[in-house]
Amino acid sequence: MLLTAAGSVALGREPPAQTATIPSRPAAAVVGNAENGKDVYLRYSCYACHGYAGHGGATTRLVPMRLPLSAFSAFVRNPPSMPPYTAKVLSETQLADVWAYIKTLPESPPARTIPLLNQP
Ligand code: HEC
Repeated sequence: MLLTAAGSVALGREPPAQTATIPSRPAAAVVGNAENGKDVYLRYSCYACHGYAGHGGATTRLVPMRLPLSAFSAFVRNPPSMPPYTAKVLSETQLADVWAYIKTLPESPPARTIPLLNQP
């Protein structure tokens, strides 16, 4: 009896079957993996100068990311004053991933929508 009960408890903890049926994203249609990109952003210290939210300071704001991937990549490889990340450090795939991650970071709301900033 006890064995049966334990068995059904264990079965109850099985992950739901539908996780196996989620269709994988078509590789060709997706540029960059934002989840891996978050890892790159944190592991390669982008956050140290650009902030966890990508809002950084005057010259280091990354959000909203308006650069296309090619310009982003060219910049990060050979920037005017930030440390360069060469192909030895970050692959093109990693750059595409971190670019995709930065594109997921939300923009800050406009000042006029923040009540505290609109008091007389
Ligand atoms: C030591 C500080 C520092 C680190 C670390 C750093 N950056 Fe920067 N980044 C800067 C500064 C400063 C600028 C402003 C341009 C310049 O002076 O090079 C900049 C500018 C940029 C820009 C250009 C933004 C624009 O719209 O013109 C991109 C893109 C960028 N950084 C991406 C990254 C990524 C991706 C990483 C991590 C792999 C990273 N940065 C790490 C300091 C840093």
